[in-house]
Amino acid sequence: MQNPQEVQHAVAALRSALARGKADLSRPPVGLVLGTGLSRIAGALLEGAGSVRVPFAGLPGMPRPGVDSHEGAFVWGRLAGVPVLAQLGRCHLYEGRTPAEVCMGVRVMAGLGIRALVITNAAGALDPLFESGSLMCMSDMINHTGVSPLTGPNCDGFGERFPDMSAPFDAGFRRLARDAALRLGLRLEQGVYIGVHGPEMETAAETRMYRQWGADAVGMSTVLEVIAARHRGMRVLGISCLTNKNLPDCMAPAPLDEVIAVAGRAGESLGRLLEAVLPELAAAAGEG
Ligand code: HPA
Repeated sequence: MQNPQEVQHAVAALRSALARGKADLSRPPVGLVLGTGLSRIAGALLEGAGSVRVPFAGLPGMPRPGVDSHEGAFVWGRLAGVPVLAQLGRCHLYEGRTPAEVCMGVRVMAGLGIRALVITNAAGALDPLFESGSLMCMSDMINHTGVSPLTGPNCDGFGERFPDMSAPFDAGFRRLARDAALRLGLRLEQGVYIGVHGPEMETAAETRMYRQWGADAVGMSTVLEVIAARHRGMRVLGISCLTNKNLPDCMAPAPLDEVIAVAGRAGESLGRLLEAVLPELAAAAGEG
């Protein structure tokens, strides 16, 4: 579903909260969605002078994340000197949320004028050569949630009825991320992310099938947000923190506390990668 009026109200509320906090919005910031266990990157943002925190609770229509590992606030600040608006925490289909609720944050960021978006998540590795604790730059994605945020009448102000999805992730941004990782000596895998509905984890047969479909990592977020972002014409970089290995012939449970702990460790690498790539990404997007 597309909900332009609701988005407009939340954008107005966020814009005035940021203005009250004296956030400099003369240039659109880079948007950043921080997923499970990755909110600590926000610490760096919050510590910077002049940062502004706006809890979702103060924004009409902005759903609050139901999972403890997700915070539920926008933070404006600077990372590596680049103005950034970070969405801390997201809600998921498995919480019973609608696609419109799942995509609210991204649509609000688009409404604020953000053109460049970095989406992060925690995911299980399907490629047997990928190690848990490492990062994967999404080269493409499969929406296996069974739903779309674009269902229903199209909002022409948002974008086209049938938006192109031949390249959901921006090739230039991916190149910048790969080069930055090389400079840092940081392992950055490249691969296809499959987004599933959840909340149950995958059976062995499902992981085997997803692998045969060409997926390299699996998670329960991101794909709807990328569709909503591309509908709005945003350029997207997607980074997964691989929190566990998901191999059909040696399935092992991946409890949430373990996923969060590994995401926290991978989050340190993600922080270094973001600091290295953001200035170039902002320059490439004509922002920051
Ligand atoms: N499957 C689905 N979602 C996940 C996983 C997984 O193995 N790890 C982290 N999020």
